[in-house]
Amino acid sequence: MRAFVAEKGDDGVARGVRELEELGDGDVLVRVAWSSVNYKDALATIPRGGVARVSPLVPGIDLAGVVEEAPTGAAFAEGEEVLAHGYELGMSHHGGFAEYARVPAAWVVPLPPGLSARDAMAIGTAGYTAALSILSLERRGLTPEDGPVLVTGATGGVGSMAVDMLAGRGYEVVASSGKDADDFLRELGATSVISREDVIGDASRPLAKSQWAGAVDCVGGAMLPGVLRGLQYGGAVAASGNTGGIALEGLTVLPFILRAVALLGIDSAQTPIGDRIETWMRIAGDLRPRHLDAREVGLDDLEDALSAILRGENRGRTIVRVGG
Ligand SMILES: NC(=O)c1ccc[n+]([C@@H]2O[C@H](COP(=O)([O-])OP(=O)(O)OC[C@H]3O[C@@H](n4cnc5c(N)ncnc54)[C@H](OP(=O)(O)O)[C@@H]3O)[C@@H](O)[C@H]2O)c1
Repeated sequence: MRAFVAEKGDDGVARGVRELEELGDGDVLVRVAWSSVNYKDALATIPRGGVARVSPLVPGIDLAGVVEEAPTGAAFAEGEEVLAHGYELGMSHHGGFAEYARVPAAWVVPLPPGLSARDAMAIGTAGYTAALSILSLERRGLTPEDGPVLVTGATGGVGSMAVDMLAGRGYEVVASSGKDADDFLRELGATSVISREDVIGDASRPLAKSQWAGAVDCVGGAMLPGVLRGLQYGGAVAASGNTGGIALEGLTVLPFILRAVALLGIDSAQTPIGDRIETWMRIAGDLRPRHLDAREVGLDDLEDALSAILRGENRGRTIVRVGG
């Protein structure tokens, strides 16, 4: 089968399309139709990216396609469309950037009604993470009546999905971006667009003007403390990412102890399969993004797409046509 492979060598990581025979373990064989490009996929193809656990590795932390072999008693049958993401996919287990994938049945989500395999990957890990973030904020009580919700890294995969889903649920969305992308973000549903610097503000002060009822942050670094400084009393931020760095620069305890704000951690990789299937039903239903017009690339174009996402240049979602 054709696969995009990352392989460690003495001079770094070699990456490119080649023929591969070995598929890895798993009782389900999926003919991959679509995969997508996520920040983590790019980390899986660079030295010290901290994602690849084996070499050679087929990256691709998500995939959608058709089941060709299924164990008896599985919740899906041969010929059915499914998706899979997270767990060890594209890390220690070959992922979606190949014509076929073998995965354990416990990782497989039957495609929810109303979503095509292409739609599922236009949403992908990024949209699933945005959905987890919104559900986490709403479990803590956030409603559209509470005030504006901030989304950082708003032009990226997680960010753009969060803007779209929140706007669709009736929230007033403030999008923060380092790019000149007002039109793109307003088209997704943002009511205003601010800069990264606006979010960080004066990092030497422990609190800033009380502005946001909630926030979805996939950037971390200096941004997340800026978000915390600007949350309203009782507000919360769902934190999922680190494109801005892993250290929380300028964080103090004051937003927590004077404004009772909450920092909610989001992990998409290890959610139990039952919860995952339920969340995908929500994504196909009341959380469904209104814009699923992703940019398409093939396996041969992945090198460029992965480099662009590492440079922070990604805008919206990029999907990979594997056999679709
Ligand atoms: N916890 C989880 O389960 C989970 C799941 C999915 C993703 N993630 C993480 O979430 C993050 C986003 O992933 P993604 O696939 O959406 O990536 P992405 O498409 O590249 O989006 C990230 C966005 O962050 C902003 N950004 C990039 N570099 C930055 C910098 N140096 N400083 C400040 N902002 C910067 C950019 O948005 P603007 O230009 O608009 O500011 C960029 O588009 C990654 O860290 C990823 O690992 C975590």
